[in-house]
Amino acid sequence: MGWIIVSARAVLAASFVSSVLAFSPGFPYGSKKVRGVNLGGWLVLEPWITPSLFDNTGNSSIVDEWTFASLQSPSVAKAALTKHWNTFITESDFAAIAAAGLNHVRLPIGYWAWDVSGGEPYIQGQLTYLDKAVGWAGKRGLKLIIDLHSAPGSQNGYDNSGRAGTADWATAGSNGPNVKRTNAVVKKIAALYRDNPSVVPVIAPLNEPAGYNGNNWLSVIKQFYYDSYGNIRYPYGSARQSNTLMLIHDAFQPLSYWNKFLAYPQYEGVAMDTHIYTIFSHGEQQMSMSDHIRSVCSRGSQLSTFGLWIIVGEWTPAHTDCAKYLLGRGSGSRYDGTYSGSTRVGSCAGLTGKASSFSSSYKTFLRQRWEAQAITYEKGQGWVQWTWKAENADEWSYQAGLANGWIPKNPTERLYPNICG
Ligand SMILES: *[C@@H]1O[C@H](CO)[C@@H](O)[C@H](O)[C@H]1NC(C)=O
Repeated sequence: MGWIIVSARAVLAASFVSSVLAFSPGFPYGSKKVRGVNLGGWLVLEPWITPSLFDNTGNSSIVDEWTFASLQSPSVAKAALTKHWNTFITESDFAAIAAAGLNHVRLPIGYWAWDVSGGEPYIQGQLTYLDKAVGWAGKRGLKLIIDLHSAPGSQNGYDNSGRAGTADWATAGSNGPNVKRTNAVVKKIAALYRDNPSVVPVIAPLNEPAGYNGNNWLSVIKQFYYDSYGNIRYPYGSARQSNTLMLIHDAFQPLSYWNKFLAYPQYEGVAMDTHIYTIFSHGEQQMSMSDHIRSVCSRGSQLSTFGLWIIVGEWTPAHTDCAKYLLGRGSGSRYDGTYSGSTRVGSCAGLTGKASSFSSSYKTFLRQRWEAQAITYEKGQGWVQWTWKAENADEWSYQAGLANGWIPKNPTERLYPNICG
């Protein structure tokens, strides 16, 4: 694959760098911090964000959007999805997000909103809501990050890729049908928003591709990012760049892996997205509350020295994996030992669910961990918390944090300005 990457780089260098107009993004990245939330679980289902949608099916084999569409009657699935799209996020959420002093909303959407083929069961209808979201964001002065969260074949095998199980996106290589379809969807998204960078300043071409699957995957991912550069930054053709920022995920590699990748001045208008969670392993579940704060504080220096603009596009104040279905529908939690092969750390009681069950010391911890992260991630270009709303996991919910005091009504307010020392 190496030669393809080299030749793509040469082609891009020759055709794109000579552009005459300066890149002028729809938000002053580099001088003003990104502060935002994700709209997780809306246009891409996640069992842990809306467990009721899954429980209501009465079929425990329905574990992701693929099985939601394939293991019940299409009309039942479509009715449930339509009701969810109409109610889970509405204009009032955009009003509340803006009133909370946030400036960005990251909106995950799956490829199937544009492309269902080859017998895939996915149900369409999301584009109406994407349009509404753009209108609502524009009205409130919020900046939208359109995040392609799910690619054909699944880019990571997580339920939030649409299909839980095997990640198959890259296995046929850069010219395989999955990657080709993904490129076509990215082109469509870029064409939709190329003339509206003040409302949609950022396109993220692929959420969390499984770089940990090894070098074959990493080659495909890098080539896909080069191709996305052309698709997102040059949607009018090679003579004219867009003002759309391309936000690429680090594919779970250390930032050092991406040193000089798509770097200025050969490339322009590229930012890195990294997701910081300290909860998805047994070792992390064993960490103390103060370890969880120290751990996020320790990320500041790499964020402040990385070569590209870097945004922490997902993170949470939660320090356990207790939220119901977080590790998959029916999978249990490592924290309380109900996840297969895990060793119990403690009870999940009072650590997930409704804030009314949270102790005041837990809420104080959530505030400290929230501030530690906001402070640290602003050493880069800022942050986008996962997630605005969750049915029954208030420790993850920005909305619940605001209502219950562990997230400040003004995101720059600090009760613990020295929490990271
Ligand atoms: C769930 O759906 C699968 C596939 O249609 C079916 O085999 C199974 O019997 C269903 N289970 C229940 C409890 O309905």
